[in-house]
Amino acid sequence: MMNIIDGKAISKQIKDEVKEKVAALKAQGVTVTLAVVQVGNDPASSVYVNNKKKACAYTGMESESFELPEETTQEELLSLIEELNNRKEINGILVQLPLPEHIDENAVIRAISPKKDVDGFHPQSVGALCIGQPGFVSCTPAGIIELLKRSGIEIAGKECVIIGRSNIVGKPMALLMLRENATVTITHSKTKDLKDVCKRADILIVAIGKPQMITEEYVKEGAVVIDVGIHRREEGLCGDVDFERVSGHCSYITPVPGGVGPMTIAMLMHNCVESVALQTE
Ligand code: GUN
Repeated sequence: MMNIIDGKAISKQIKDEVKEKVAALKAQGVTVTLAVVQVGNDPASSVYVNNKKKACAYTGMESESFELPEETTQEELLSLIEELNNRKEINGILVQLPLPEHIDENAVIRAISPKKDVDGFHPQSVGALCIGQPGFVSCTPAGIIELLKRSGIEIAGKECVIIGRSNIVGKPMALLMLRENATVTITHSKTKDLKDVCKRADILIVAIGKPQMITEEYVKEGAVVIDVGIHRREEGLCGDVDFERVSGHCSYITPVPGGVGPMTIAMLMHNCVESVALQTE
């Protein structure tokens, strides 16, 4: 039987758990605050940033918003980050990506204190994940682990194939699945016989950025299919997976919208509340 994984419901569960932790901290006199930085006014980024601020309000966290003009220099942005690193009442710093072309994204990511790196993008956070030490984990892959676990899907010993090797999703996803004792394969644009490799997967995680590319020809009967893609089309949103064609072949599938998407923000809220313990160590 095919099950649709309800990312909206699971993300609400997580946000409600965070809300309780935020309230408990508040009772001890501790306020949790996320700084949200956006440079320029890319409409998609504005939607994400607004959703992040709304999630802060829902969980009882404070958010401080920094909306900087497109022509902000790298030096100006780096000096804001330094100020936020030094402010004790700021727990998490989120710089919305992508940044304008004249700003070096890596330099900005490196400037954020690893103790406030709630996106999990800092090389120290990625390195810690790689060698199994505590640190922030990138929100989308962390959210996918929660989707699997909270749907009762076993990961240990399973064949997991990931399509896509980005720093934000593919690579941390592979490390997390490895931590959960899956056998992991990462595929990419140069992979030979992609369909055959994907057909080995008990758990197939798709993050390629191509609308509806994955059909039933890539999916083993009874596999779990996780769709990270999101594309705006005239008919509405769709993912990297052709839901109609694949859903009859798998045991579990995430829809778009309402699958992986809402989990990213839920895990950001989770990381923010966890940052408090890291900062008081
Ligand atoms: N742009 C797209 N996804 C993300 C994300 O998870 N974090 C940040 N900071 N920017 C993004």
